[in-house]
Amino acid sequence: MPESMEQSPKPSFAVVGCGKVGVSLAYALSRAGYVAAGFSSRSESSAARAAGIAGGVHGTVPWNITRNADVVFITTPDGAIANVCKEIADNDGFQPNSAVLHCSGAIGSAVLEPARKCNAHTGSIHPLQSFASIYTNTNHFKEIIVAVEGDEQAVRLAGRIAGDLDAHQIEIRTEGKMLYHAAAVVASNYLVTLLDFSVQLAEKAGISGDDAIRVLKPLILGTLSNIEKNGTVKALTGPIVRGDAGTIEQHMADMEAMLPSMLPLYRMLGRYTADIAEKRETPKTDLEEVRKRFDGSES
Ligand SMILES: NC(=O)c1ccc[n+]([C@@H]2O[C@H](COP(=O)([O-])OP(=O)(O)OC[C@H]3O[C@@H](n4cnc5c(N)ncnc54)[C@H](OP(=O)(O)O)[C@@H]3O)[C@@H](O)[C@H]2O)c1
Repeated sequence: MPESMEQSPKPSFAVVGCGKVGVSLAYALSRAGYVAAGFSSRSESSAARAAGIAGGVHGTVPWNITRNADVVFITTPDGAIANVCKEIADNDGFQPNSAVLHCSGAIGSAVLEPARKCNAHTGSIHPLQSFASIYTNTNHFKEIIVAVEGDEQAVRLAGRIAGDLDAHQIEIRTEGKMLYHAAAVVASNYLVTLLDFSVQLAEKAGISGDDAIRVLKPLILGTLSNIEKNGTVKALTGPIVRGDAGTIEQHMADMEAMLPSMLPLYRMLGRYTADIAEKRETPKTDLEEVRKRFDGSES
């Protein structure tokens, strides 16, 4: 890596693994003035598509491409990062002082050890956003959070890249990455699960699936806004924090009749929610009654 790659001129980059994140990143970087050295992927066609979008050469032999780049992004699936990095290192594919970054949220930069042994700087830059497809008409990094981790130079460079992509950078400790990623999974994937659960209940109530999200959306957005303003504990409303065991009992009776397979999840989430309610002014005796309904131990 040139002495101050964190400053201008912008470093050249290569991408190995030309899928959703790799190509969206390449598009955004090239729009931000970074020059593509080239692209490599398992299939020729994916690498060629990326080069068509962001410029540079392409091929299926990664070290022929990475060797000419100041920054190498390994954007293969997580399980392939270690092997791909090792293969490139074994074939002298990393310039000394270059930077090697991966985009996984779950794993740390230690997986790039073979690159570090070639005197490259190693780190990770994880976009905290869902990439459902390849984005080539918009900078999908704009205004999102990217979590960076790695050695000092790699973190500084990743921070510069985040800034150039109009993203906001946070630093994450290497040993905290797995739980950070679990937090992202709960916030994004489990939100999908929760809303699927809610839509199923709404459908049983006679609201069609197409309408259900439209009907629920103002409630969802209002709740998110309350959480943002006041935090999760103060944002909690509804029968549990009111200590209304009777309503809970009726929910469960109707679910037992109409959607019994969802009862265990309802009970589990209810117990968790009762723990949140305990941090509020709900009388303990009322909460005990609520908990008994979830545990099936009411008299
Ligand atoms: N998708 C998201 O929402 C998201 C968000 C944040 C971070 N990430 C992270 O970003 C990284 C990439 O994820 P993605 O969603 O972009 O995956 P993806 O769409 O499946 O793309 C991965 C690409 O890697 C290529 N590939 C697979 N094995 C390879 C190998 N051994 N050598 C070279 N190329 C290989 C595939 O090749 P071919 O097309 O050539 O067959 C594919 O195009 C992962 O670390 C993931 O955790 C993803």
